[in-house]
Amino acid sequence: MPTNNSPGASRAETRRNTRRRFFWISLWALGLVFLGVMLVALTNHVVNWSSSDTYCGTTCHSMTWANAAYQQSPHYINSVGVRATCGECHIPFDSGHATAMEYVKLLLFKADRGAKDFWNEAKKSIATREEWEKRRPTLRNTFQSYLTQHDYVTCRGCHSLQSFGGPRSMKLVIHQGLVKADSYDCLQCHANIGHVYEQPWSKIVGWYTVEQAAAGRKLFEVSCSGCHGAKLEGVSAPALSGATWEQRFAGAKLLTVWGEIKGPMAEYAGATFTTQQSLDILAYLLQQNGLPAGTQPLANTRELSDTLPEK
Ligand code: HEC
Ligand code: HEC
Ligand code: HEC
Ligand code: HEC
Repeated sequence: MPTNNSPGASRAETRRNTRRRFFWISLWALGLVFLGVMLVALTNHVVNWSSSDTYCGTTCHSMTWANAAYQQSPHYINSVGVRATCGECHIPFDSGHATAMEYVKLLLFKADRGAKDFWNEAKKSIATREEWEKRRPTLRNTFQSYLTQHDYVTCRGCHSLQSFGGPRSMKLVIHQGLVKADSYDCLQCHANIGHVYEQPWSKIVGWYTVEQAAAGRKLFEVSCSGCHGAKLEGVSAPALSGATWEQRFAGAKLLTVWGEIKGPMAEYAGATFTTQQSLDILAYLLQQNGLPAGTQPLANTRELSDTLPEK
């Protein structure tokens, strides 16, 4: 009579045990793979969710005013209908496709930022508009220096400086100059691009001084009047005053006119103008088009986000 410890039975038992072990190991492995996939999906979901406008703009009370100013910016509503979200500007690699290494950097950045933001929100560091106004300059400077130190990585995830085109593209000339100079301080020319706090017409009374326009006039006479006429009436080139000016520049940014002067027109004239000289010429054009002088000269391209009056 065979017993349990006969050689045949124990071999069968071992086989059964091996099969059972194999089954459990497989189940565990499958479970781990599943868990891993879920974790990656969840991480990615959390990463995306915690960069969203809803999360960044409305979860924290302290972001109330930044969110309102963001909604005034061209990145919230624009002619092409593509919205840049808080995360796409503020968090590196959110706007581009991150490599594995960049994804790790993104996670570290978010963990660090998130902890600080959570702490400040919990402390109610910014509970009122007054406190917000007090802290805004520091917050702005911190973010601006982050951007300059990192070559505006978030902006360039969407905008390529080499890709500005068009038949005669002032934008190409201007931005290619930056590529050549290897300097990308976007905010130097594009203030108010993420958040618009001041109204565009806030400075409409007096963008330039009379002395500045006089300095601009001298430069204009040497470099520009040959084509545009001593009275800006237009000779071989369009008039820069009256109806022609209005048609071209009513409602445009000062930056648009300045870009023409500093970019293609300097090339046409065979001149290189310092930023100040190009601003002086702009002042002269503004003066000749009936815009009033003020007490402060135009001294910085940051001041060019204001728009010219509509027709
Ligand atoms: C198009 C890019 C862009 C988007 C989108 C954007 N920001 Fe900003 N943000 C900036 C820039 C550039 C600055 C620094 C200069 C400035 O203040 O305009 C800034 C500054 C800030 C500051 C510092 C204080 C200040 O306002 O200067 C905070 C806080 C802030 N952003 C939060 C947010 C939140 C929250 C959102 C989404 C609701 C958001 N940002 C969307 C680009 C952006
Ligand atoms: C998610 C992609 C995205 C990111 C990130 C982004 N932009 Fe934009 N940007 C856009 C879109 C879309 C427009 C609207 C284009 C249009 O209206 O033709 C725009 C418009 C602009 C304009 C022209 C709008 C105007 O009224 O002058 C400037 C300048 C600009 N962006 C600069 C920046 C800067 C600087 C940053 C970084 C702080 C940035 N962008 C980040 C997508 C982006
Ligand atoms: C030296 C000044 C200057 C700097 C710095 C600069 N830009 Fe511009 N940018 C201009 C001018 C001038 C225009 C044309 C203004 C206009 O007509 O709207 C322009 C236009 C744009 C536009 C709008 C293009 C369109 O077709 O509407 C975008 C987007 C833009 N710049 C992105 C950037 C980004 C991103 C950076 C930084 C990497 C940057 N710019 C740095 C001067 C500058
Ligand atoms: C060699 C002739 C020539 C010279 C020199 C020249 N321009 Fe122009 N400018 C033109 C032409 C032609 C246009 C029309 C647009 C184009 O073809 O680029 C133009 C367009 C402009 C525009 C845009 C107006 C519009 O209707 O589009 C401005 C602003 C301008 N010029 C200012 C200047 C200033 C300021 C100087 C001196 C620094 C200057 N130009 C020198 C030929 C010239």
